[in-house]
Amino acid sequence: MKMEHHLKSCTRNKNKMSTIKFISIFLFTLFLVVILFHIQYSSPFDFSLSARSQRQIFLSQENYSVVIKSMTAKLKDSLTFLPLKDLRFRETATTGHTWFMSSLNDTHKENEAEHLYFPSKASKGRLLCFKGRDTKDGTKNTYALAWREGLPDSAVLLEGLTFVSDTYFDHTNLWHGLCAVAPFVRWSTKNECLKPTRWVLFHWGELRLKMGSWIQQLMQANFGEVKLEGFDRGDVPYCFEKAVVMRHEISKMGQENKLKMFDLLRCKARSYCGINPAGKGREINERGVSIIRLTLLMRRGSRTFKNATIVTDIFAKECARVEGCILRVVQSEDLSFCDQVKVLTNTDIVASPVGAQLTNMLFMDRESSVMQFYPKGWLEYAGSGQYAYHWMANQSGMKHQGAWWDPIGEECPSPQDQWQCFSFHKDGMVGHNETHFAEWARRVIDQVRLIKMEQASADQANKHDSKTCLC
Ligand SMILES: *[C@@H]1O[C@H](CO)[C@@H](O)[C@H](O)[C@H]1NC(C)=O
Ligand SMILES: *[C@@H]1O[C@H](CO)[C@@H](O)[C@H](O)[C@H]1NC(C)=O
Ligand SMILES: *[C@@H]1O[C@H](CO)[C@@H](O)[C@H](O)[C@H]1NC(C)=O
Ligand SMILES: *[C@@H]1O[C@H](CO)[C@@H](O)[C@H](O)[C@H]1NC(C)=O
Ligand SMILES: *[C@@H]1O[C@H](CO)[C@@H](O)[C@H](O)[C@H]1NC(C)=O
Repeated sequence: MKMEHHLKSCTRNKNKMSTIKFISIFLFTLFLVVILFHIQYSSPFDFSLSARSQRQIFLSQENYSVVIKSMTAKLKDSLTFLPLKDLRFRETATTGHTWFMSSLNDTHKENEAEHLYFPSKASKGRLLCFKGRDTKDGTKNTYALAWREGLPDSAVLLEGLTFVSDTYFDHTNLWHGLCAVAPFVRWSTKNECLKPTRWVLFHWGELRLKMGSWIQQLMQANFGEVKLEGFDRGDVPYCFEKAVVMRHEISKMGQENKLKMFDLLRCKARSYCGINPAGKGREINERGVSIIRLTLLMRRGSRTFKNATIVTDIFAKECARVEGCILRVVQSEDLSFCDQVKVLTNTDIVASPVGAQLTNMLFMDRESSVMQFYPKGWLEYAGSGQYAYHWMANQSGMKHQGAWWDPIGEECPSPQDQWQCFSFHKDGMVGHNETHFAEWARRVIDQVRLIKMEQASADQANKHDSKTCLC
């Protein structure tokens, strides 16, 4: 019994022992699994380490944001505005970095006009800001570069693309205005035909609030509504989301690119004015003879003909000599922008005294002819600037058929002083030489007649004047 009991108890004891053993093994296995799990996914030491470093990161993050806040505040305060017009460079006002925004160099791609773009790699991602709106002293207007995150709190951010144009001359004259804004037209064709949201105009760093109506309409034809920025929302910095600055004319632009730019200006102006020039080059009269359109483009005031009637008569006589030749005499000031585009679109030969009205030559088809007249004194005293329309004819694909310098007139009182003599003669009147004008007109009309006959037979007129503009 005892034995049995013992045995029983032993057996019971034995049973108890195996249960404990089982539980121990189970717990041990569980422990191993947990350990293994930890070894597999992250060691317990690492875990405690990473918890500590996470706490540290959390602390440093707190510190970083304090630092960032204080740095941003410093950045906003550190903007240095420099004068737009830098008098140290008055002797080289139009060369290199010019006296306008003189601390910055242009970006120059081969055969394109120089320009500055903000924000860009060259600006280290900074935006362009202006402050000041003086219209008489360019040294009172200022500029600075700023990161978008560090703009002064008072700054006005102007969204979209802004065209900034500074000129040494002016934005009202047809010729000078065109020289100032033409590079934007080319820049746009190279940049997805982008259009500006607004324009900012400067002359020697002085703010200008308007451009001439002719220039404005030409730009409207290219870019849609022209909005001029006047910075009239308080004396605060104005910063541009994106800005292109042009402070050189088109001198560095290659000849091919100039031709393309003038093709686009012509195409856009014609389309804006609802003129369809298709078939113009093959225009013929009822007897099948090619039409030649000769236009005397007159002006008022200075540099007009002393006797416009007699000059008109000479050209009328020569035109009448050639079948198909039609003479038209127009007063440029009396024509709206679109009438000027229309008249010149329908002109094969333009004859005109030197003056900004000649800028309209760009609306003629390529290969059309230009004849020019100068008052006495220009040849001697006007310097190379008098050839501006010779160059323009060349750059816009026209044929410059020569010029006549009036040899007759009063002599300059102080012939040694070039500037004084030029101002003496600058606004003189233009006489005439009947023999010379008649021979010259005859030669040019005959040449154009031959070109037109060739064009009619080759049927290739207007090859550059496709109705679809580049942009
Ligand atoms: C982080 O900031 C706290 C208080 O904001 C400061 O006590 C601590 O010294 C700072 N640590 C460092 C490394 O700047
Ligand atoms: C601009 O160009 C000049 C001459 O090449 C150079 O000395 C100057 O460091 C340049 N300035 C900047 C801001 O790049
Ligand atoms: C212009 O020339 C014509 C023809 O020679 C002459 O009749 C007329 O009087 C002249 N006009 C002026 C203003 O000199
Ligand atoms: C006109 O431009 C061409 C190049 O396209 C040049 O060869 C020629 O000399 C230029 N003529 C004048 C008068 O500038
Ligand atoms: C007028 O032009 C002709 C032909 O070019 C020339 O022979 C003559 O000398 C000129 N007359 C004057 C007064 O200049």
